[in-house]
Amino acid sequence: MIKYIDLGISSKEYEEEISPLIKDIFLTGQFISDSYVKEFEDKFKNYCNTKYAVALNSGTDALIFALMSLGIGQDDEVITVSNSFIATANAISYLKAKPIFADINDNLLIDYKKIEELITPKTKAILPVHLMGAVCDMDEINKIAKKHKLFVIEDAAQSIGSTYKKMKTGSLSDIACFSLHPLKNLSGITDGGIVTTNNKQLASYIKKIRNHGLKNRDFQEFIGRVSRLNSINAAILNHRFDKLENIIKNRIERAKLYNDLLSNVQEIKTIKMKSYIKHTYHTYIIKAEKREKLQEYLQNKGIETKIHYPISIHNQKPFSHINNQHLINTKKFEKNILTLPIANITFDEIRYVCKCINEFYKGL
Ligand SMILES: Cc1ncc(COP(=O)(O)O)c(C=O)c1O
Repeated sequence: MIKYIDLGISSKEYEEEISPLIKDIFLTGQFISDSYVKEFEDKFKNYCNTKYAVALNSGTDALIFALMSLGIGQDDEVITVSNSFIATANAISYLKAKPIFADINDNLLIDYKKIEELITPKTKAILPVHLMGAVCDMDEINKIAKKHKLFVIEDAAQSIGSTYKKMKTGSLSDIACFSLHPLKNLSGITDGGIVTTNNKQLASYIKKIRNHGLKNRDFQEFIGRVSRLNSINAAILNHRFDKLENIIKNRIERAKLYNDLLSNVQEIKTIKMKSYIKHTYHTYIIKAEKREKLQEYLQNKGIETKIHYPISIHNQKPFSHINNQHLINTKKFEKNILTLPIANITFDEIRYVCKCINEFYKGL
């Protein structure tokens, strides 16, 4: 069986690499400690080339706190997309603001040409999602934001290491939000998240929210939350940071082989990024005719696939009241996207997957 992903590690890796990190924390009792987290934040901001990085306990909190730091709240509107993980819209709605869904382009990313028509006096921000590890058209989005005096918040949950004109995601907007969930390319062992920004005020506000709204150990400035990255997770993330470039390289090589082998399958469309974008393939998504039947066929051939996402956010119950008539591509692609395994797969297995895809369409 070719599994979609296997999050387990070998006992050798556990004994040699992970166990000493955990042991150290248990022996020193630094369960909630600044040092591991600070080391991680420093690595992260240097990697993204931003002035600040603030680690949190989820990518969802990163989104909520980023919106809060920009003063977004009740009745404000934030333009984003419906083909994302629900956390993107949840964060907006959690603050009693309203997500406004823009349609997507052929690359499954926000279509910047569809943004301006959605701007109203209530619009406060644009929240593009760098889905899959691809990167949105940031120059155009930032230009629109500047013209209409809007903030831009990157949902970079899936795009650690992706670049746009050689600049890393996380450095392309006012503030960016990453997830460190075990499924992500830079993966923790529990939930985790981080924001990056060049704005000192935003970073310092988020540092306070994550710790009860405390300014220092004893003085509280406002009512905050508890959203710290724990030490064990931070220590493991520090360790895994050194492996990130290799993980990304492996995924790019695998995506290239898929792209090559699928290029002459007429019924399949692959994602084609502009030359100045580095896509890091958190997921490898294709658009496939007869998606359901293909997925079933591959399953019977021992190949596990997924759909990201089978239900667009505008079809989820809490968001079904939001206008979605204009979401032509979102609705169209929802029916034919399919995510092929990319994380642990070998090149030979990729050849087998593509052979099965070819056979499926030939047999129709
Ligand atoms: C696009 C997107 N945004 C936000 C999130 C939320 O991150 P987390 O699960 O760390 O809260 C995710 C996580 O899967 C995501 O994929």
